[in-house]
Amino acid sequence: MSLKSFARHRAAFFRQMEKRSIAILPAVPHAVRNRDVEYPYHPESDFFYLTGFSEPNAIVVLKREGQRRSWVLFCQPRDAATEQWVGERIGLKRAKSEWGATEAWAIEQWDEKLPELLTGADHLYFNLGAGHAIESTLLAQLHQLRMRNRSALCYPQSVHTLDPLLHEIRVRKSVDELHAMRRAAEISVEAHRHAMRVCQPGMGEGQLEGEVLYSFSQQGCRTVAYDSIVAGGNNACTLHYIRNSDLLKDGDLVLIDAGAEWQGYAADITRTFPVNGRFSAAQKQLYEIVLKAQQAAIRQVRPGRRWDAPHRAAVRVITKGLLELGILKGELKTLIKEEHYKPYYMHQTGHWLGMDVHDVGRYKVGGKWRPLEPGMVLTVEPGLYIPLGSKGVTKRWQGIGIRIEDDVVVTQEGCEILTDKTPKTVAEIEQWMALSTD
Ligand code: GLY
Ligand code: MN
Ligand code: MN
Repeated sequence: MSLKSFARHRAAFFRQMEKRSIAILPAVPHAVRNRDVEYPYHPESDFFYLTGFSEPNAIVVLKREGQRRSWVLFCQPRDAATEQWVGERIGLKRAKSEWGATEAWAIEQWDEKLPELLTGADHLYFNLGAGHAIESTLLAQLHQLRMRNRSALCYPQSVHTLDPLLHEIRVRKSVDELHAMRRAAEISVEAHRHAMRVCQPGMGEGQLEGEVLYSFSQQGCRTVAYDSIVAGGNNACTLHYIRNSDLLKDGDLVLIDAGAEWQGYAADITRTFPVNGRFSAAQKQLYEIVLKAQQAAIRQVRPGRRWDAPHRAAVRVITKGLLELGILKGELKTLIKEEHYKPYYMHQTGHWLGMDVHDVGRYKVGGKWRPLEPGMVLTVEPGLYIPLGSKGVTKRWQGIGIRIEDDVVVTQEGCEILTDKTPKTVAEIEQWMALSTD
């Protein structure tokens, strides 16, 4: 993503702002891990989307006065002594010359500059209640301005949540964003292929996770989009299992849900495959149901289809499959209507994907599932989970958790699967795993 892409994001946001308005977004603080050890800094997505700026201790202000649009960045000034320890800062000069800020100020000047920024705007966009440290001073300042109303000052009369405007822009991806997402997908596909090839019975889940991370790094990517799930056997029935601390057993399946983040954009892939490279008959029967469900769901991804169409397609295939295997009994229509599949398939078939793995954007508009549009990106990820001890289910099916997840872009004609080079059918997986790495 070039800095020009972020300028386009700002331009799109400015177009949605009221004529005389101001938007304020603080960067998230650097999170402490323990004592004086911090987590690697990761910018909050809304802030990054509008700035491309990834340092902490920053605030961005976007101001629209009729046709005049300006943006002001408050950030950490250059400081040789600190930079000796933590590395180079961007500083005020580059914030203007490279990032294109209309004005740049040291973060320490925030309180002093705030009154003049607020004056002249009728509307303020700010996420109240989001825990931003600047909220109390901002509200106090608004109060101050109100108390001075005899001076004929113009200041914001209404405060709006930022999310509805900004997230509606974020839900449709630009060409540049799709470019970054394709790369995140490619890196992740390669890592899943690598993990399938090196997986062996007796390996630790954490060891296999290490292979995924190793592959990301080898491809020049050190950031994951979320904590990787590597779940052998029954562990795969825990949807967000991230302990990854058991040994992988011969005869079990292993589920890997892992995605890289590239230039701030996420991939999110799940594959489930046999630890020893060959599916058992029972595993194969359940796997084929999930695969068919996923294929049916992906066929629903095209412009004009409503958000819930893929889920409904997946639910139908899964319920029918469970009925055919005797895990469910009754009439298909009733089983679907009464959600009898839910003990074995309890999540949705997907979510928006973008900067955040569970990306922003509404799923319903005006009380109805929204129609899909070109440029939207979603995951398609049906699953089946039959934990050990499931009542009324024969032992044959127990201890198996399967999910298959791909990342899909809605295109003019239908869809593009960003992650489809990851082996997926039983034959593709078994063939791929049979190719020795030595
Ligand atoms: N990796 C989280 C999810 O699939 O939603
Ligand atoms: Mn997902
Ligand atoms: Mn996932």
